[in-house]
This record gives sequence, structure tokens and C-alpha cells, in this order.
Amino acid sequence: MKALVLSGGKGTRLRPITYTSAKQLVPVANRPVLFRVLDAITEAGITDIGIVVGDTAEEVMKAVGDGSAWNAKVTYIRQEAPLGLAHAVKISQDYLGDDRFVMFLGDNVIQGGIKNLVTGFQQHNWNAQIVLKEVENPSQFGVAELKNGRVVRLVEKPKEPPSNLALVGIYMFDHHIFEAVNAIKPSWRGELEITDAIQYLIEHGYEVYPYFHKGWWIDTGKMEDLLEANRLLLDEITPCIEGEVRGNSYIAGRVVIEQGAEIVDSTIRGPVAIGRNTHIENAYVGPYTSIYHSCFIKNCEIEHCIIMEEVHIEDVPFRLEESLIGRYVEIKAASAKPKAYRMMLGDHSKVGLVSNG
Ligand code: TTP
Repeated sequence: MKALVLSGGKGTRLRPITYTSAKQLVPVANRPVLFRVLDAITEAGITDIGIVVGDTAEEVMKAVGDGSAWNAKVTYIRQEAPLGLAHAVKISQDYLGDDRFVMFLGDNVIQGGIKNLVTGFQQHNWNAQIVLKEVENPSQFGVAELKNGRVVRLVEKPKEPPSNLALVGIYMFDHHIFEAVNAIKPSWRGELEITDAIQYLIEHGYEVYPYFHKGWWIDTGKMEDLLEANRLLLDEITPCIEGEVRGNSYIAGRVVIEQGAEIVDSTIRGPVAIGRNTHIENAYVGPYTSIYHSCFIKNCEIEHCIIMEEVHIEDVPFRLEESLIGRYVEIKAASAKPKAYRMMLGDHSKVGLVSNG
């Protein structure tokens, strides 16, 4: 059995982060989403992994390498443009051959991994199995209609959903999926849709079965989803303090402080994760915050945030909340007169200022 991880795409909903880096490499609870995907796949016993890459290929390849960190063999498959999930399968045919495989969207996080799913699929001769999750707002997802235990129809973002079962970004396929992805035509948005490919399988008599996922699942396409995934994962972290805690500091709750990090005269109220070589001084770091490697945080309060690597935050008068801060960002109080905001923001940046009201 092989795995196909989709790590290309446009990432428009996560601009400006995705102008300069891969959304799959945003750390949640201080581990990149894509690493968590690879963890789940290898935990399920699959070590032959193809990763579909696009514009951010170099960055993804640098981060994941040859897969030896997971005791796996990684093969990179270039997608010249993000032409759809089914297009990603189509261009991977040479790599996948006749093997059965799990397809995993590289920006999805799932609680509890995929071991049961993979084992279950191995025990049957089904042509495909799709992971479904009960949701409250099915109209915002691809939704499955079931009959006699089989999947009989898939609909994208239906106004009148046939069920509350949303498609999670994980699918099991055998080689018949290539017949489907080669037969379907691009949708109105110009993409080869995986739902159309699965619908093709159903209509041509292939067996498509559901897998009901019980835990949480997050598609981290937007900032709010990343913060939510960060929150859920931090709730499950095992506390571990390897860095140094000095001065008048107070650590409470589930907290991870990695090697080389220093906490000086600060309050850290978990669940919180602090990365390697990060310095925190005279600060408050509140629940559901992840601060990645080599950051400098001084004289400020941060809560419910994801702070990526090498960020510098200093002397900020109001608490920073519900924010995703990209790499190498600097947020500092300006002492120069006149008293004014001074910013350099990339396209699509979002700033929420405290108003006087
Ligand atoms: P999406 O989140 O559906 O698409 P996107 O990454 O283009 O983002 P946006 O809608 O914000 O513009 O993609 C799901 C996953 O599949 C993600 O990890 C990117 C990957 N992907 C590919 O590898 N190739 C593709 O052609 C597409 C559409 C997505």
C-alpha cells in the first residue's frame, strides 16, 4: 500500500502567509501540519509516500527531505498548476502503478490517525473508501448520500444536503481511480474534482464504501481553522519542560517548553507550546498559544495565537489574540515621535487595531 499526500494548491484563503510559504508547513501545536500527516501515514504502517508539490516545492522538499525522519521513502511529484485533487491523482499514476493507496490532503489534521481506516481497507476488496464525518453545517462541504451501507452519490456544497456526512480529506483507492480521473472533465472552476472521479466510480459499478470518523478533523485552509486545530492539539499535548525557567516566572497547566528556550519573569498559562531557542521575558502567554522556534517575546501579552519562527514581539501595549503571525515578523512599539502606527504589510495582510471606543 502506498500513500499520496497533496501538498500543492494555491492557498488563496491563507494569504499573505501563502505568498511566501507552504500552508502545509504552518506549525500547529508547534509541529507542521504536513509532518502530522506523515506521522499518521507512517503510524498506519505505510512507508512508500508520494508527495504532490506545486509552487512551494523547494520549501516542502527541504522540510521533509527523503522521508528518513519518518523511516519512509518519499517521492516528489510535480504538479505544474493546481488543477484539482483529481488532477493530482492523474499525474501520480506512474508513481502509484497498480498499488492501492491512501490519499491524504496535506493541510488536513485528523484526531487519532488513520490506522483503523488503512487496516479496514486492506481487509476488503473495495475499490474506494471515503472518510466521512458528521457535521452541523453540511452545506459548506462535499456531502455523501448512502444507501445499503454504500456511497451512492456525492454532492459539493449542496443547498439541500442529502445527509450531514461531510467528506474528510482522506480517501482510499485502488487503481480503478485512474480510469475515473482520466474520464472526467474539469468543473466550472476549471479543476478536475475528486468528487466527480468518485461519482464516476459509483456510476460505473465500482464499490465505494464509507468510513465514519469519530474524532475531530480540521481542514486548515483558513486562519480560523489553523487556530482551531492548534487549540485541539494543544489540549492533547504531554507537558514537558526542557528549556530554562528563570526569575519570577509562573508556569501552569499543560505546557511544553523545548530545549534552548528561556522563560524569564513571565507567566505561561497552558495549554501552551514554546519552541526551541525562543526567549520570553516579562510577558504573559495565555491558553492555546504556540510560539515556534527562535522567537523573541518581551513586555507583552499573547493568547490563542500561532506565532511562527523568528518572530520578534516587544512592548505591545494591548494583548495579542487570535492571530497567526508569519515567519520573521516584527511587532514593536514605536518610540519615535510623532506618535503613529508604522507598518510594512504584505498584500492581503490583516491588522486589527484597538479602537478608542
Ligand atoms: P484546497 O485547500 O482545496 O485548495 P488550495 O490549497 O488551492 O487552497 P485555496 O482554496 O485557499 O486557494 O486543497 C487541499 C489540499 O490539496 C491542499 O493541501 C493543497 C492540495 N492541492 C494540490 O496539491 N493540488 C491541487 O491541484 C489542489 C487544488 C490542491
